[in-house]
Amino acid sequence: MHITQNAAIADSADLALNTAEQTTWTIVGSGAIGLLAASNAALKGSPKVQLALRPQNNVGTSFAFSFCAGQQEYPILLSSITKTTPIQALLLPVKAYAVADALKAYLPNLTKNAQIVLCHNGMGTIEQVLPLLSAEQGLWFASTTHGAYKSTPLRVVHSGQGKTILGAVNQVAKSMLASEKSVAKNEKGEKNEKETISSAIAQMLGPCEVVDDILPFLWQKLAINLVINSLTAIHNVRNGALAGADYQAVIGKLVSEFVEVAKQSGQIFTSEQLQQQIAQVITATAENYSSMLQDVKNGRQLEAAYISGYLLEQGVKHLLDLPTIRQINQELNSLNPAKLAK
Ligand code: PAF
Repeated sequence: MHITQNAAIADSADLALNTAEQTTWTIVGSGAIGLLAASNAALKGSPKVQLALRPQNNVGTSFAFSFCAGQQEYPILLSSITKTTPIQALLLPVKAYAVADALKAYLPNLTKNAQIVLCHNGMGTIEQVLPLLSAEQGLWFASTTHGAYKSTPLRVVHSGQGKTILGAVNQVAKSMLASEKSVAKNEKGEKNEKETISSAIAQMLGPCEVVDDILPFLWQKLAINLVINSLTAIHNVRNGALAGADYQAVIGKLVSEFVEVAKQSGQIFTSEQLQQQIAQVITATAENYSSMLQDVKNGRQLEAAYISGYLLEQGVKHLLDLPTIRQINQELNSLNPAKLAK
């Protein structure tokens, strides 16, 4: 079975997402989460998706790969955008350090009320992206726990069923979300099937929970990534190894430093609550290699600047000394091939 998506874009560059017409989503890059989102959309037939690939990918106007979900293998064929394709809805599932440049590359294609959805580990990109957008463009964040990896450059495997938390980041997105909620039911109280940002994300990376404030969720994920990604990358172990007695002292120190920075940034967590959540993720993903360890193994740039590096920047702002986070950030820098982590 071949599933083909139509790259044809609606004539109106101003198409609003909650009109009856279907919006075409552009997914940037050919990373595992982006291909997972594209595959789900292709299999379900909605939303319409197309890929925005770097010119060096050299795949022409279509991109074929294999999607493995459960025991099934699906051949997927997607179209890719051209330089002039207007973009109404952009999903940016790229590493944190690549977000600003990726968005800059597609800014000329964005329609005047385009909606942009960030999706990555770490924090610090919202500050970079907001000044790039015009007054009518919406910014959203989708934080996902789905596991996916590329077994070959042309095969993506859905390795862990997760869920996605979606939040509106800027005022445009918040207003759109409020109107999505008000049109969620029609006058007769029946569910409205019109496409919205959240319904599109639910199709691609669902189940999807929409929250009023995404920041606490991003901070919580930051704590999980600080501990699991950093320690597994430094010690070259699977996530499950972090349940061992040897790691509990360093995890305790990282979490208590994290709680202090978060507090100064207006996010209240308790160490006990976070340690419990981190322990749960360690157990649930025990067999996995974290994304940061996979980056080390593949000689790719690490996201440390947006995880431990971001926390250190917040620490400087609030005059906090964070010796354990500084130590692991240094160790990650020495593993980072790009040496770009702060
Ligand atoms: O980045 C990752 O690998 C994941 O976010 C997590 C939760 C640490 C599981 O491996």
